[in-house]
Amino acid sequence: MLQAPGVLLLFCLGATNALYKQWIPDTNYENKTNWDKGKVPCGNDIALFSAQRKVSVFVETTHAVQEMRLPVDGELILNSGAGFYVLGGKDPACGSGTTTEFQDSESLQWFNPALWQAAASQNDLQLGNFLFAVHEESVPCQQDDVVFKALSSFRVDTSSSQPTIPVKSVSVLGKTFDSRAEFSQYLSSRSGQMQFHGSSAVTAGNPGCGDSSGCDCGNSVNHQLICSTVKCATVSCKKPLSPVGHCCEVCGAIVTIDYTAGFTVQTYRERIHHLFLILPKYKSIQLGISKVFKSQRLLGVIPFSTIPEIQVVIVDGEDGKVSEDLAQDLMTDIGSHGSEIGITGSEFQASSGNTSDLSGSNAGMVAGVVIAVLLMIALIAVGAVLIQKGVVRLPSMPTITMPSLSSFRRNTDVGDLGGTIDHGFDNPMFDQPNTMSNIPGLYGTDRQSISMTQTGVHFVNPVYDENEIDLKV
Ligand SMILES: *[C@@H]1O[C@H](CO)[C@@H](O)[C@H](O)[C@H]1NC(C)=O
Ligand SMILES: *[C@@H]1O[C@H](CO)[C@@H](O)[C@H](O)[C@H]1NC(C)=O
Repeated sequence: MLQAPGVLLLFCLGATNALYKQWIPDTNYENKTNWDKGKVPCGNDIALFSAQRKVSVFVETTHAVQEMRLPVDGELILNSGAGFYVLGGKDPACGSGTTTEFQDSESLQWFNPALWQAAASQNDLQLGNFLFAVHEESVPCQQDDVVFKALSSFRVDTSSSQPTIPVKSVSVLGKTFDSRAEFSQYLSSRSGQMQFHGSSAVTAGNPGCGDSSGCDCGNSVNHQLICSTVKCATVSCKKPLSPVGHCCEVCGAIVTIDYTAGFTVQTYRERIHHLFLILPKYKSIQLGISKVFKSQRLLGVIPFSTIPEIQVVIVDGEDGKVSEDLAQDLMTDIGSHGSEIGITGSEFQASSGNTSDLSGSNAGMVAGVVIAVLLMIALIAVGAVLIQKGVVRLPSMPTITMPSLSSFRRNTDVGDLGGTIDHGFDNPMFDQPNTMSNIPGLYGTDRQSISMTQTGVHFVNPVYDENEIDLKV
C-alpha cells in the first residue's frame, strides 16, 4: 500500500485553491424543521402555506394530506414520482388532524456564516468532511463554487451594500451555472425569483483562484454585515486572539506563515491533516487556513503597505491549550521541512500569551525597510522643523524660497516629480490620495524596492516572486 504522503501527492495534482460552500437550510417539504409543529403534515392534517409568502418548495416523495392551502405566489418542485393525495378515511397513525404551517424562510441571509458549510471538494461535501473557516470565509468567497443541495430548494436573502455578489459558480437543483449570462437568466426565471431575493445579485462566472498559494476571499467589504449575524461566545483565556476575517475573539493559536514560490495551500492543508489532525489528541481541533493581507504599520499606526501571508487559525473549543500544542507542532514541522514546502518563515501567538518567531530573511528585510522608512521620516520631520524655523527667523530673505510644510505637500504633484527637485521621499504621514497614482514606472514592473501608491509606501519584497509585485493595497 502507498503511504499517506504518496497518496496525498497523487490527489493534489488536480486540486484547486478555492473551496466549495454549501448552503445548509432548505425549503423541502420533507424537512420537519420547516413546519411549525416540527413534523411533516400527515394524512389527517391541513398543510398551510401562508398566502403572501413567496416560497419554492421541493417535494421528494408522495404525501397524503387532508387539505392544502397554497400561497398566491409560490412553487412546488415535484421530484419524479412525488405528489399529493387525499385519504378516503382517517389515517389511524396520524392523530386527530391539525393545521400545520410551513415556516418562514424569508430572513435567511446569504451573509450569515452559520448557514454555510465549506469543503475542499464536492466529494468532501457529500462525505461531510467540512472545513473550519473564519467568519468572512465561511460565506462564499469570490473564487468559490456555491452549492445548493441537489434534491432541495431554498430561499436566500442576498441583500448587501454591494450591487453584486461574485462567485465562480452556483449549483442549483443539481445544475451548475458557471457563466454569468446563464445564471442571470436563471435568476430571472420563476424558480430563481422564488429562491433568491434581496438587493444584491449573485453573479456566476467569476474566475477561480489561479494562485496556488490561495486567494483573497473578497468578503472584507461585507465584514460588518457578516458579523452582524454572529453572536460571540464569551472567552476566558488570558490573551484572546483576533484572527483576520473573524468576528469574534478566540482562545487558541494563530500561526502566521510567510511563503514563497512553490507553496500550495491545498497541499499544506492536507499535510496538516495527515500529519496532525488525524491524531486522537487533536480530535477537538478546528483549523482554518486563509490568505490575509497584513498591513505594515509605521509606529504601529500609519499603514504603509500590505503583504500577503497565510493565516492558520487553530481553536479547540476550550482554553486553547490543545491548539497551542498543535501550533508548536506546526512550527517544528516548518522548522525542519519549511523549505521543501515553500515556507520561509512563521510565527505563532497563543491565547495563553506564549509567542514564538521562526522568521527567515524575510522578516529581517521587512524590519530593514521599516527602519529605513522611519529614518527617512525622522529626517524629513527634522528638515521641516528647521525650514519652518528658518522661515520664521528670516522672513524677508528674498532669494531663498523655503517651502512651508503645506506648500511642500502641494508640491508633491505628479508634474513635479519629473522635475529637477528631488523630494527624495514622500512622507506617508502627509499622504494625499491621487498624488502619485499614475506615474508610470514608479509603480509596477520596474524593480524599485520602494514605490508610492495611493495609500502610501509600497515596497516590493524580492523574496516573493515577480507576480507578487502586482499585488495592490
Ligand atoms: C432540515 O433543515 C435544517 C435547517 O434548515 C437543516 O439544518 C437540516 O440539515 C435539514 N435536514 C435535512 C435532512 O436536510
Ligand atoms: C508557554 O510555552 C512553554 C514552553 O513551550 C510551556 O512550558 C508553557 O506551558 C506555555 N505556557 C502556557 C501558559 O501555556
